[in-house]
Amino acid sequence: MSQVFPRFDGDLYAGEHMVSELASEFGTPLYVYDAKVIESTYRQFTAEFEGIDLLMAYSVKANSNLDILRRLFNLGSGADIVSLGELHRCLKAGVQPERVVFAGVGKTELEMEAALEAGILAFNVESESELRLLNDVAHRMGKRAPVSIRVNPDILIDTGHEYTRTGHSESKFGIPSDRAVDVYLWAAEQPGLEIVGIDVHIGSQILESDLYKRAFNEVLKIANELDRKGINLNFIDLGGGYGIGYSDEDGIAMSTFANAIVPIVKDSGLKLILEPGRFIVGRAGVLITKVLYVKGEGSKKFVVTDSGMNDLIRPSLYGGFHRIEPVQLKDTNASTLVDVVGPICESGDFLARDREMPLPEEGGLLAVHTVGAYGFTMASNYNSRPRAAEIVVDGSEVVLARRRETVDDLIRGELLPNGTLSS
Ligand SMILES: Cc1ncc(COP(=O)(O)O)c(C=O)c1O
Repeated sequence: MSQVFPRFDGDLYAGEHMVSELASEFGTPLYVYDAKVIESTYRQFTAEFEGIDLLMAYSVKANSNLDILRRLFNLGSGADIVSLGELHRCLKAGVQPERVVFAGVGKTELEMEAALEAGILAFNVESESELRLLNDVAHRMGKRAPVSIRVNPDILIDTGHEYTRTGHSESKFGIPSDRAVDVYLWAAEQPGLEIVGIDVHIGSQILESDLYKRAFNEVLKIANELDRKGINLNFIDLGGGYGIGYSDEDGIAMSTFANAIVPIVKDSGLKLILEPGRFIVGRAGVLITKVLYVKGEGSKKFVVTDSGMNDLIRPSLYGGFHRIEPVQLKDTNASTLVDVVGPICESGDFLARDREMPLPEEGGLLAVHTVGAYGFTMASNYNSRPRAAEIVVDGSEVVLARRRETVDDLIRGELLPNGTLSS
């Protein structure tokens, strides 16, 4: 696996900057993103699909920092969103609304109204009840909501953790394939709906292209049947989930994926939408954390850092693996079995368990790799901990993309007994 953040003389770099100097300037915990890596990954991804009509709808949930969104939208990306908040971010960052698709099983009336007002490309509808409400809302507004049904193709895949599988019948997502045609036929009769496409998303961190081919063929069957019944779709949205390498494994081979998908897309005559999140930003982020204490007798040591599960929850939530290493590597760092843990009062608060790694020194810095996706976006204020700062490095340039939260930020909006705001 190629090293995104390189080392020179033992020091980790982001762009042209020594990570240890960035940590001195901005403090820790610190999310550092490399803009050049994001941009080149985006370009490589889209280059695989030259010759077909592709809308790349970056999945905003992976990393929704405005600076990163702005960079991706400047490159021509659209967006896959799941909430009013994500719509707001995207509009602020300059997205073209007609390049936005809206997924999620629990869209509210308010969210539907805002997205209709903005003029998005499509609602990826996840249930028949949602479709009925969308019809009512759009009709009331004197509009037709562009609709694509998210189909659940009942494909169970091994993504590494059950929480990241979404395309099987036991999952809450989508409408079962065998209901899809009837649902489309109903939608075609409604005054507030306009059928535009079909959608599927089978899970995350998928490394095998064949699974996408299966999912594509499944929705194509439905699209063909609809065609025979006089309902023409504009696009197939194949969702996201393209896997990356977290340890020694390689990510999904995009050229293999494209070779499998492009010919069937061409034959279908439909536009293709893809919603990669992790693939675009995952490798481009590193979390810098300070070692507060090293404790423990005997064979197991605990490295206590100033980042916890509130900063990066993937290890606790999904057993997610992140490579961790000292920011400044010295020959004297002996390899030891450690748990890297945070300061949160939970036994489940760890960044790594039973990890053989160079034993860091107290006061030293650690780099937690491959955290550009589902890192900061899943951060919380648990234990009343302010969230980390985020910076974007672009060669020699460094942008503070989100300032570190303060303790006053933590209580903003909370009310004191006399009804006044606390900050
Ligand atoms: C509908 C949909 N599209 C796209 C994505 C992005 O997935 P990934 O970041 O794994 O590409 C997700 C992730 O949950 C999703 O639910």
